Amino acid sequence: MAEAEVGDDVYGEDPTVRRLEERVAELFGKEAALYVPSGTMGNQIALRLLCPSGEEVLADADAHIVTYEGGGIAQQGGIQTRTLVSERGLLDPDAVAAQLRAGDWHTVGTRAVAVEHTHNRGGGSVYPLERLRRLRELTRAAGVALHCDGARIWNAHVATGVPLAEYGALFDTLSVCLSKGLGAPVGSVVLCSAEQRPLAWRLRHRLGGNMRQAGIIAAGGLYAVEHHVERLAEDHANARLLADLLDLPAPETNIVLIPVPEALPADEVARRCREQGVLVSAFGPRTVRLVTHLDVDRAACEQAAKVVAAALAG
Ligand SMILES: Cc1ncc(COP(=O)(O)O)c(C=O)c1O
Repeated sequence: MAEAEVGDDVYGEDPTVRRLEERVAELFGKEAALYVPSGTMGNQIALRLLCPSGEEVLADADAHIVTYEGGGIAQQGGIQTRTLVSERGLLDPDAVAAQLRAGDWHTVGTRAVAVEHTHNRGGGSVYPLERLRRLRELTRAAGVALHCDGARIWNAHVATGVPLAEYGALFDTLSVCLSKGLGAPVGSVVLCSAEQRPLAWRLRHRLGGNMRQAGIIAAGGLYAVEHHVERLAEDHANARLLADLLDLPAPETNIVLIPVPEALPADEVARRCREQGVLVSAFGPRTVRLVTHLDVDRAACEQAAKVVAAALAG
């Protein structure tokens, strides 16, 4: 990162940012890519490409785009969301098909369906490929776009062996994070068509996301893409180890959700763990979330399991 070749990317002149965008577009088999500061901005830009103001995006009720993005697509994009409660956050194609609306003078039209793959609040859950294919078929038949919040799509790729390009071919747009499991300090990439890219650029500018010598951080993203994808398998093994040590079902990827006992608020469990040097998220009143990543090894997970077990018991 310290040696990155940089230019002024507000003028589209940063060669490292271009290299990162080209590489990620190539991996997913998409025509175009746009580097953005965050996954939150990536989702907002992508969904605004697909859905005009006053129309709707269908998503599961626990999706990041409806839970954790400050209502950004509603406030900035004027987009209405309609949500479906889905098992482990994974949309059921039949339930989606039943909800699609063409829209007319009276009704709000469904312009896009958004999936989250893997699903954060679903516990790092992975869409079976067949289910994604059905979602693609039914949305295409209805003239509705399909977006993927792929903050952790790299984990899905490593867990299933499905090539990134196969995922890329299923969606009109994706937002993929270079931070999170890949370990870059910052940054995400929006994947779209060449035709959509100028508008994506314009939307990023409006959101204040056009950055000057961004090659410094893009270089970290490039390194992560080249060196940190396959090693996600270690994070998955560590998550399974944590679950095993805590007597929980094996997770599919790198997220372990732990139910906490009735008398013990999740916040309290998180506080006790923090006191012992283990950072966990209270994920609701009755659930704690553990995430494995490249900064925690097997020994750290064994230690974390002891701390969490004591916090749950004490
Ligand atoms: C599924 C999902 N999408 C999007 C994001 C947003 O990423 P960022 O924190 O870079 O805005 C997150 C962050 O945790 C996430 O879990």
